[in-house]
Amino acid sequence: MSMGIKNKSKAKKYVVKKGGVFWPSPEMKKIANMADPKIYEKAAKNPIKFWEDLAWNGLTWEKKWDKGYVEHFPYFEWFKGGQINFSVNCIDRHLDHGDRTALIWVPEPTNEKPIKVTYRELYDKVNKFANVLKSEGVKKGDVVSIYLPMVPEAAVAMLACARIGAIHSVVFSAFSADALRARIIGGEAKILITSDGYFRRGKPEPLLAKAKKAAKRTTVKRIIVVNRIGKRVWGRRYLDFNKALEKAEAYCEPEIMKSEDPLFILYTSGTTGKPKGVVHDTGGYAIQAYQTSKWNFNLNPGDVMWCTADVGWITGHTYAFYGPFLTGATSLIYEGGPDYPNSGRWWKIIQDHDVNVFYTAPTAVRMFMKVDPKWINQYDLSSIKILGTVGEPIDKESWMWYFRMIGGSRCPVIDTWWQTETGGTLINVLPGIGPFVPTVSGRSFPGLTHVIVDDKGKPMPTGRQGFLAQKSPFAPGMLHGVWKNPEKYVKTYWSNFKNMYDTSDGAYLVNGLIRITGRTDDVMKVAGHRLATAELENAIHDNKKVGDVAVVPMPHDVKGQVPIAFVVLKKGDGSEKLENELKKHVDKKIGPTARPGKIFFVKDLPKTRSGKIMRRILKALLVKEKPEGLMTLVNPESVEEIKTIIER
Ligand code: WT7
Repeated sequence: MSMGIKNKSKAKKYVVKKGGVFWPSPEMKKIANMADPKIYEKAAKNPIKFWEDLAWNGLTWEKKWDKGYVEHFPYFEWFKGGQINFSVNCIDRHLDHGDRTALIWVPEPTNEKPIKVTYRELYDKVNKFANVLKSEGVKKGDVVSIYLPMVPEAAVAMLACARIGAIHSVVFSAFSADALRARIIGGEAKILITSDGYFRRGKPEPLLAKAKKAAKRTTVKRIIVVNRIGKRVWGRRYLDFNKALEKAEAYCEPEIMKSEDPLFILYTSGTTGKPKGVVHDTGGYAIQAYQTSKWNFNLNPGDVMWCTADVGWITGHTYAFYGPFLTGATSLIYEGGPDYPNSGRWWKIIQDHDVNVFYTAPTAVRMFMKVDPKWINQYDLSSIKILGTVGEPIDKESWMWYFRMIGGSRCPVIDTWWQTETGGTLINVLPGIGPFVPTVSGRSFPGLTHVIVDDKGKPMPTGRQGFLAQKSPFAPGMLHGVWKNPEKYVKTYWSNFKNMYDTSDGAYLVNGLIRITGRTDDVMKVAGHRLATAELENAIHDNKKVGDVAVVPMPHDVKGQVPIAFVVLKKGDGSEKLENELKKHVDKKIGPTARPGKIFFVKDLPKTRSGKIMRRILKALLVKEKPEGLMTLVNPESVEEIKTIIER
């Protein structure tokens, strides 16, 4: 069966079926940047040397390092003594072919034309904007807050920071003013880069009002605004992004950075209520982004990659921008909603721009499984070579649908496991090597080692679920700290297992390949977005009527998980009005992505003698399973009551 393919003559077959699973076809092996199955053994012999060779051959260094890898657990440094500028690696070194397209921007309104930015144009803009930042007093090591939608200026702003050695801190544009404010304060940013708005589902969506509110009484001196929806902005505190850029000097000398200098921070949810600023370095992150783009997505100059993730997430950082730029390929970004003006939009974009690599989240796949297939089948998707998924486990049915409908049963599906903390992908099958097995992520990238262990750190036998941990030498792209919180860095990631990194994910081995089962802590994935139950609980607790609250994830057929809240009021009964009030407050505190699917008002929450809320029991009740461990509760009668309320 070959659905999703109009132009069959053009469509090459990149997979073959053997033994019930899929393998790279001779054609795939021929075009693959890496097709040697022995690469794993070769890399394992001397992983440090392996990464050193990759980094030396793949990147442009100002000065070679003295030492490839130094570890003082839980701190480690890659390419110590090496000097590099990240923007030079993304742009300057491609200028021999400066007319190649770096970025294709597809605006949402269909009457606006897509814009192509060549490497030469990107170079000009980045240099100029780097000079704008400098004239605003931004110096090496300063944090710059970026609150932008999917517009080319996001790439320009980030690369301009990298050029002058400033640290960017991008905040997802759908996050609330409160969430942005906390991140501005965290970084003590003097500059906030935002836009007047963006288009979503046919309407201009304002952004500046949220940005202004967030910046009040913070360190922000200047707000640089991209004019996207034509709002007039005035006042001494504001600067028009593109006007300022036009007036700036054409060249900005790149700041020579140490490999270990921070490139960016990105906040992410952990088990506590407060998101932590994950710090990424320069050289290590660069090679992780470069090499994974080379080998997972087979990116070469001329290839068009579309990673649908927003730049507000790590996936957007690494695969919508940096990976494609580092490899000199072309990145496509799209501003708007996936179903605007209809459910054919994404597939039309792939057809119109000959997208070769398509990378999205299982939640998007599940969403499109529900639409009329005509929205997909009318487009020619034969340009696609490799499909990828990321963000949460993908079930077999969705994998097969993606493989058949989008890949026309001819492209490998790469299920990439990684995290904000790891900077780039760590576990997946390489397209030139295979096998491609639904629901299985695969193997650690060459030169890396993951193990599946019990709570004591002892390896688990094949087929038994355990905790996924990473062994030394740690991946070059791994985080290098938690912004201004070294204790949290040590405690969260490096204290649970001896000499290993704790991923907080569960996994097991199938035929030597890793299958991920999901988070083992109180972190949810809602439509691929990472959220801590504690963050939501804090937000709901802000309401004075709320006495106690517990939030747990519930399985959802499109979003994967949705948060469900159980609230005990100090007095009185719950109402729909109060439920809406609490949901609105979550929107305000975090953003609509975090909004609970349902809030149940209950009399009591199941607790242990020590007062710990048993979220596990609430989870079981939601999926109508028999809750276990009721003996440990001080208030087992609460369970019956909650069950009745849920069933109602
Ligand atoms: C968590 C990290 C970095 C990519 C975007 C998410 C889950 C990620 C997979 C996958 C199963 C996955 C894990 C991980 N996850 N990829 N292929 N299969 N689960 O980054 O927001 O930092 O979330 O996403 O639970 O810990 P993130």
